[in-house]
Amino acid sequence: MSKSKFFIVVVACAVLSLTAGAVSVPVRAQKGMVASQNEIASRIGADAIKEGGTAVDAAVATAFALAVVHPTAGNIGGGGFMVYRPAKGEAIAYDFREVAPGKSSPTMFLQDGKYSSEIHHNSHLAVGVPGTVAGVHMAWKEQGKLPWKRLVEPAVALARDGFTVSDGLSRSLKSVMRTMQKYPASVAQFTKNGVPYEPGDTLKQPELARTLERIANQGPAGFYEGETALALEKEMLAHGGLITREDLKKYAAKKRVPVKGTYRGYDVISMPPISSGGVGLIEMLNVLEGYDLAKMGPGSSSAVHLMTEAMKRAYSDRAHYLGDPDFVKDMPIAILTSKDYAGRLRKTIDLTRTKPSSPATFEWSHESDETTHISVVDGDRNAVSMTYTLEAGYGVKIVVPGAGFLLNNEMGDFNAAPEITTAEGLIGTKPNLAEPGKRMLSSMTPTILTKDGQLFMVTGSPGSRTIINTVLETIVDVVDFGMNAQEAIDAPRFHHQWLPDKIQYEKYGLSADTVAELEKRGHTLQSGGAQGVAQVIIYNGKEDVLEGGTDRRASDGGAVGVPGRAPTKQTSAQR
Ligand code: DON
Repeated sequence: MSKSKFFIVVVACAVLSLTAGAVSVPVRAQKGMVASQNEIASRIGADAIKEGGTAVDAAVATAFALAVVHPTAGNIGGGGFMVYRPAKGEAIAYDFREVAPGKSSPTMFLQDGKYSSEIHHNSHLAVGVPGTVAGVHMAWKEQGKLPWKRLVEPAVALARDGFTVSDGLSRSLKSVMRTMQKYPASVAQFTKNGVPYEPGDTLKQPELARTLERIANQGPAGFYEGETALALEKEMLAHGGLITREDLKKYAAKKRVPVKGTYRGYDVISMPPISSGGVGLIEMLNVLEGYDLAKMGPGSSSAVHLMTEAMKRAYSDRAHYLGDPDFVKDMPIAILTSKDYAGRLRKTIDLTRTKPSSPATFEWSHESDETTHISVVDGDRNAVSMTYTLEAGYGVKIVVPGAGFLLNNEMGDFNAAPEITTAEGLIGTKPNLAEPGKRMLSSMTPTILTKDGQLFMVTGSPGSRTIINTVLETIVDVVDFGMNAQEAIDAPRFHHQWLPDKIQYEKYGLSADTVAELEKRGHTLQSGGAQGVAQVIIYNGKEDVLEGGTDRRASDGGAVGVPGRAPTKQTSAQR
């Protein structure tokens, strides 16, 4: 066997052993569980639960810590969503998506009448008014127990005193330096005077520490007003950006009613618009409920075919109907999430053949691959599913001079410009065009499942448009295929988004047989890299224990359990 063949076999075996469950054992703990993309941050969240904090306390502490140790997506300069499901009472969705600044307009990404992707995604005009600090503060105020300052302080310490750079972070920083180079404050923050950080080095971020300290002491005013707001406005004014101190002061997080559905006896609670995630997820689950996926088996051509057909339909609907509910008044959410509509969609599905996606619709503009998800359950079985983002990795790559935090490029999630929908991927449909104070359409899908009124599963993932499908697959893997949290995370993933008309699947994730069968049914397939970084926690009601998984598609992640007895025992067995 040649050296290169041997290498391929070794890699294939590693992947197979991962997917065969040889190492798919979840972390188990009774009193609480925090799963995030960085173990340091998960531990900080778990400590909050240990000290008597709630799931929301833990999520807030984890989110601030991620803004320091996971700068590619953890943030205070971005936005996101939190779905909170208390053990008792109604679930709530906190919407802290960025908004378009007051001087925005639908044509703001045009230059001399021509659309500019550079302006849309990589300029000061790509920055939305950040929502994270307002959002986590709102959730904490309503659901937290520990003092606010106690939750921000671990992040202050990490930024001030530094933390050890991992292999993954070192690689990631070296790679982003190519695009960060033009922003001196970013270079100052993420290199040692221009020399890259190596694994084992200590990364300190003193300006970020001071901003976090202001947030710890003053709450959201430490971010949206005073010194921090002034620094952000100054950066904008100097470089043609739009965000003013008035925009910052006006920013408001919103409470929304989660979108709800059912799947094979489980209740599904997810993020409503401005995310397309919950609506898309429930639409797909409703369609799939009509088929016996368990009998077909994971990775079988029939299961992949049917899941793909559900994906194609839901992603088409996403593109046609969804936008900011405060601006788009006629979204057919009740229809899209109804069983009746799913039944009608099933009638359009041929079990042996796919129909090509219609070229009358369009591809979607580019979205990058960096976001991050936090799943938390505390001892009372209150649950948090939170996804937040800077949009691209390190957002727009601009660190605000003097304030030490990275800015998002979330305006790129608005459609490009009115009436320029092209086959190359530009969209000009109305619901998602930029307007002052409007939120941009998202795919983030923080989700919680319950059974008979009790918590069952918390799930979510980064990955742009693939997010909804990654979340779908974790649910199908657990509910239909009986996998545990770690197995559901390890299981290979695939994605179809209507257009482009192809199934993308993780390398080695589908067998040659399955690929051949799918091709026979008319599908085009393309294998590629990893899809998403899921954070899954399952409540095993029989044993009254939480089971969390760690997604090894990314380095540094970790589910961290809180040992010790939970204060309340759940009653009915759920699995
Ligand atoms: O809100 C959205 O859907 C995107 N801005 C999220 C970006 C993303 O997930 C990148 N992730 N890995």
